[in-house]
Amino acid sequence: MAAGKGTRLKSQLPKVLHEVGGKPLLAHVIAAATRVVPAKDVYAIIGHEAERVRAATEHTGVRFVLQTEQRGTGHALMVAQDLLAGYDHVIVLSGDAPLITPETIGHLRNFHLEEQAAMTLLSADLDDPTGYGRVLRKNARSADVQGVVEEKSASAPQKKIREINSGFYVFSVKALYGNIGQLSTANVHGEYYLTDMAEVLRKARQRVVAWKTPNPGEVLGGNTHAELADIDQKMRLAKCRQLMEEGVTIFYPATCVIDADVQIAPDTVIEPYVQLLGKTRVGTACRIRSYCVIRDSEIGDGVSILPGCVMDDARVGSSAIIGPYSRLRPGSDIGEGAHLGNFVETKKIKLGKGSKANHLTYLGDAEIGAGVNIGAGTITCNYDGVAKHKTVIEDGVFVGSDATLVAPVRLGKGSYIGAASCITEDVPEDSLALGRARQAVKEGWAREKRAARKK
Ligand code: UD1
Ligand code: CA
Repeated sequence: MAAGKGTRLKSQLPKVLHEVGGKPLLAHVIAAATRVVPAKDVYAIIGHEAERVRAATEHTGVRFVLQTEQRGTGHALMVAQDLLAGYDHVIVLSGDAPLITPETIGHLRNFHLEEQAAMTLLSADLDDPTGYGRVLRKNARSADVQGVVEEKSASAPQKKIREINSGFYVFSVKALYGNIGQLSTANVHGEYYLTDMAEVLRKARQRVVAWKTPNPGEVLGGNTHAELADIDQKMRLAKCRQLMEEGVTIFYPATCVIDADVQIAPDTVIEPYVQLLGKTRVGTACRIRSYCVIRDSEIGDGVSILPGCVMDDARVGSSAIIGPYSRLRPGSDIGEGAHLGNFVETKKIKLGKGSKANHLTYLGDAEIGAGVNIGAGTITCNYDGVAKHKTVIEDGVFVGSDATLVAPVRLGKGSYIGAASCITEDVPEDSLALGRARQAVKEGWAREKRAARKK
């Protein structure tokens, strides 16, 4: 179920597209679902901003059901009736509860089948059950459920019940659709509550049971920004714990933001306040120092990333040293043992093995060989206001400080570029290029100036 608006988030973005652990809520639920049943048997019920939700999750291969008007969780299942005709049982998942695991869904399904129930709820004991529907049982020992009461309709004693309805269910398709017509909208929200099926089915003398998960942390739903932040934090900590288990050192896990799909090899050290996002992969024995934000990048082994670096879709070869304060934009490919220093920006470049650009430099649309030294303040002028052009710097070139390389231009192997040169023409191999005004010296000029001022 993923059709709701998410009124409590007060957001333009539909609730199930809000992110935790770097991925939309619904993406987590779909990932769990598709590990229990094949994607072609997973249906996402979408409605509010349906096309946006579809676009964000289509790649998973699940199918979609449109609930044009969102008249409650019971109504969501009414809309899916025709599609479910060919199935004996249906597992119903809430699209806004992303911590659910395939193992728990599997347990719930097995329990339902063993109990031969018409409806099986997944329940959990929460220390703070506020906001959730409460499970009403005949007695504590029996699996049988009398009904579910929503928070808004619960009496004071019912509010004390700590066993909550998680929003995950298994139904016998026949029992569900044979009785779904009994649901009514006579409640505070004026909606069809799927939870009312418990009472409806019990009254129809059908078996309704609950299976209580021993892992209540998995059922938390994200209805508010506070709940989303809480879930996000739980996921991030779990990710850090998993990485630490695998041999990664993380100094202060509570401050690190590491997305679910990030991979880090053992013996790498992550300092406080680091963000590793998207599909980033980090090799072994690296050190990522504080305040780095790294997305979709590939980092080799033994790399040092000094504080304050920003990387996006970049590749860094083994033993390279980056930063502090380097910015690697998409398409930056930094060679083995290369150095990029403070306030160096790169975009769509290849920097060869052992090459260095240590200070205050912009390198864009460039192919730079091995053993090249790029002096402080060097700029590749890659853009003429209309098109981008390429700079080629061959192996062993020495570019003096404050050089301006106007692309398209090629600096031949082993050549030298004098400091402060503006290079507009290709430089042949092993030559020295100077493109700057000759220095003029006027002896005594300053002394005379000062003397004139004193008069
Ligand atoms: C629901 C349960 C509550 C349970 C809680 C667990 C009902 C009436 N209540 O409450 O007992 O404790 O989940 O998290 O079901 N949705 C649709 N179409 C709709 C309405 C909702 O697809 O017309 C989707 C939402 O997008 C969401 C899910 O169903 O993903 C649950 O809806 P939500 O409004 O969040 O229900 P809760 O109030 O959390
Ligand atoms: Ca919810």
